[in-house]
Amino acid sequence: MKIFDLLEQYDYEQLVFCQDKSTGLKAIIGIHDTTLGPALGGTRFWNYETEDEAIIDVLRLARGMTYKSAASGLNLGGGKAVIIGDPEKLKSEAFFRAFGRFIEGLAGRYITAEDMNTTTQDLAYVSEETQFVSGLEDKSGDPSPVTAFGVFQGLVAAVNEVYGSDDLEGKIVAVQGLGSVGYKLCKYLDKAGAKLIVTDIRKEHIERVVKKLGATAVAPDEIYDAQCDIFSPCAMGAILNDFTVPRLKCKVIAGAANNQLAEEKHGDMLEERGIAYAPDFVVNAGGIINVYEELKGYNKDRALTRAGNIYNTIKTIFAIARRDKIPTYVAANKMAEERIAAVGKLAKIHL
Ligand SMILES: NC(=O)c1ccc[n+]([C@@H]2O[C@H](COP(=O)([O-])OP(=O)(O)OC[C@H]3O[C@@H](n4cnc5c(N)ncnc54)[C@H](O)[C@@H]3O)[C@@H](O)[C@H]2O)c1
Repeated sequence: MKIFDLLEQYDYEQLVFCQDKSTGLKAIIGIHDTTLGPALGGTRFWNYETEDEAIIDVLRLARGMTYKSAASGLNLGGGKAVIIGDPEKLKSEAFFRAFGRFIEGLAGRYITAEDMNTTTQDLAYVSEETQFVSGLEDKSGDPSPVTAFGVFQGLVAAVNEVYGSDDLEGKIVAVQGLGSVGYKLCKYLDKAGAKLIVTDIRKEHIERVVKKLGATAVAPDEIYDAQCDIFSPCAMGAILNDFTVPRLKCKVIAGAANNQLAEEKHGDMLEERGIAYAPDFVVNAGGIINVYEELKGYNKDRALTRAGNIYNTIKTIFAIARRDKIPTYVAANKMAEERIAAVGKLAKIHL
């Protein structure tokens, strides 16, 4: 693998390899772009089969964070960290403190947070060694309430785009995944008068939405055929693909799941089918907004207000898509790139 070629491809700034024999720590920190601020992104713990796989993952995820923060109007750059190995076997206080020391060594260029297989307890150990960590239990804590509120706002903005009104009364919303975010989203939708068709692979998650909100449940694979106005993916990625897109009956897609498009061509397919797609990384930015607010001294109301702005961001993305005759997923990237370029030019003003 030619690492510098990889870094050059999307102009990554830095790739940091961290090793500590005494704890077994093997981590890689990727910093994509710090034009707008420190690179913030979570730490993923995964048993990668090869080092190349870990490098490719951290680079891809770090770049994704640049776009997410830039499009959401945050003063943050994009970064991510991956820890290689089996979380069950490796986790310990010393392990995460070793990792914290490496982060501290970057002097604030990278700020970490939770991601797959890392918990607030792990972050608490990291925070013993560095101030550059966000999403701690005793501070901003669980981001899902803010994420769900932001998803709701993004969904309403996309509905407005298609139906000319924010009114959800009587609209049918199919929700895939009823976990931390999906369930809270269902509550907002129910309150707004929407009818719910839902699915999950966990029976107890389905039951609470059916019992409490009167939702109609379908089998996991049937959600793609549901007769609905809006589809809200809130479970896992790559669910908009060759097999599912032709089956969809909705006019709007807006949900919390990351990386919903299996490939970019599926964003084009949605466009061709006349389905309004609210780009996932903008719709679900409530999570990063929550940790961003922690950096400034956490205040939940301020985090919710900022997440409410996802409505306006989605409306702007649809406007750019219309203006430039491009799909919304391209418009979202363009908006992020334009903001980075515009703020980047300020460097010419000497302070
Ligand atoms: N929690 C946040 O603040 C946040 C922020 C940004 C993005 N996201 C993304 O949103 C999604 C949901 O996050 P969450 O925190 O609610 O996760 P969660 O684990 O609490 O919930 C996910 C739910 O999806 C269900 N599920 C899994 N596979 C399924 C399948 N094949 N069909 C139907 N349901 C299935 C699970 O049983 C679970 O109930 C994830 O993709 C996550 O990465 C979450």
